[in-house]
Amino acid sequence: MTQRDFIQRLPKAELHLHIEGTFEPELMFEIGRRNNVKSRFATVEALKEAYNFHNLQSFLDIYYEGAGVLLHERDFYDLTMAYLERCHEDNVVHTEIFFDPQTHTDRGVSFATVYNGIRRALDEGKAKWGITSHMIMCFLRHLSEEAAEKTLTEALPFKNGIIAVGLDSSEVGHPPKKFKNVFERARKEGFLTVAHAGEEGPPEYVWEALDLLKVKRIDHGVRALEDDKLMARLVKERMPFTVCPLSNIKLRVFDKMEDHNLKKLLAQGACVTINSDDPAYFGGYMGANFNETARGLNLSESELRQIAKNSFEASFMTPFEKIRWMNLCDQA
Ligand code: HPA
Ligand code: ZN
Repeated sequence: MTQRDFIQRLPKAELHLHIEGTFEPELMFEIGRRNNVKSRFATVEALKEAYNFHNLQSFLDIYYEGAGVLLHERDFYDLTMAYLERCHEDNVVHTEIFFDPQTHTDRGVSFATVYNGIRRALDEGKAKWGITSHMIMCFLRHLSEEAAEKTLTEALPFKNGIIAVGLDSSEVGHPPKKFKNVFERARKEGFLTVAHAGEEGPPEYVWEALDLLKVKRIDHGVRALEDDKLMARLVKERMPFTVCPLSNIKLRVFDKMEDHNLKKLLAQGACVTINSDDPAYFGGYMGANFNETARGLNLSESELRQIAKNSFEASFMTPFEKIRWMNLCDQA
C-alpha cells in the first residue's frame, strides 16, 4: 500500500476549517452571477492569479472580498455542500467548521441566513455520507470586543447548534486579552472556546488564550515552540494544536514544507492535528495537507496514524465516539 493509500484509508477529523475559505473560484463566479454582484476580477484565472499571498493580511483582504457575493441561505448551503463533498472524497468523517458571522452581518446579511444555510448542508451531509459535524462561531479580532458582544447576543437563539466560539482574522496587534469579557460570557452561556494563537503572533498570545480565554484547543499554535515553558504546559495538558501546513507555507509562516515544525511538535508529545484552514486559497483539502506534510517531513505511518487519532481525541465528539474512531484508526 502506498503512503497515499494509507492516508486515504485513515479516518480523519477536521478541526480547523473556515467555511468561507472553501469558496472555490468557479462557485464564487457562479453565485456572483446569480446574485448580480460584480467582481473586480474578469475571469476565474485572473482571480486565481491574485492568490499570491505574502502574509496573513494579504490573504484576509482577498478572503473577505470573495465572501462578499454570499447573500442568500442557498449560497451558504451550496458553499457548505461543496466542502462536504471534498470531505467525503478525502475520508474526513467528522468536521468542526468555523464561520465568521460578522463578515456577513456587517454587509446586511442576517445571522439566521448564514446559520440556516450552513446547518441545512451539514444535516444533509450527515444523511448522505454519514459525516458528523459541529459549528464554531468566530469573532473577527480586528473588530472591537463590543462588536463581538453584539454577535454573541445574536447567536443566542441558535446556541444549541453552535458548540464553541473562536477568534480569527488579523492576529498581530489584536491579542486574546482584548476578548476576555466576551469569551467569559460565551462560556457562561455554555459555549466551549478555541482561539487562533501563535500563527503570526508571539507565544504570549498562546498563554493568554489558555489563561484568559480558557480555550480547549489552540488554532495553529506553531510559534509555541519558541517558548519551552509554554510547550511543557501544552504537552502536559494535551492541549490540541490545530496545525494547517499548506496554509503556513502559503502565508509564509515557514518558507517550505521541509522547514515546518509539525514533526518537532509531535516529537515533544504535543497533541498535533493536520487541517486545511482555507483550502480553496491554500492549495488543497485534507488529503493534500496530509500528503504534502508526509512528503515534506518524511512522516512515518505511525506518525500519520497518531495525527489522525489526535484529531478525534481533540474533537468535541462524545468520549464514546472518540474511542470508536481512534480504534478504527488503529485498524486502518
Ligand atoms: N488565521 C486567521 N484568520 C483566518 C485564517 C487564519 O489562518 N483563515 C481565515 N481567517
Ligand atoms: Zn484559521
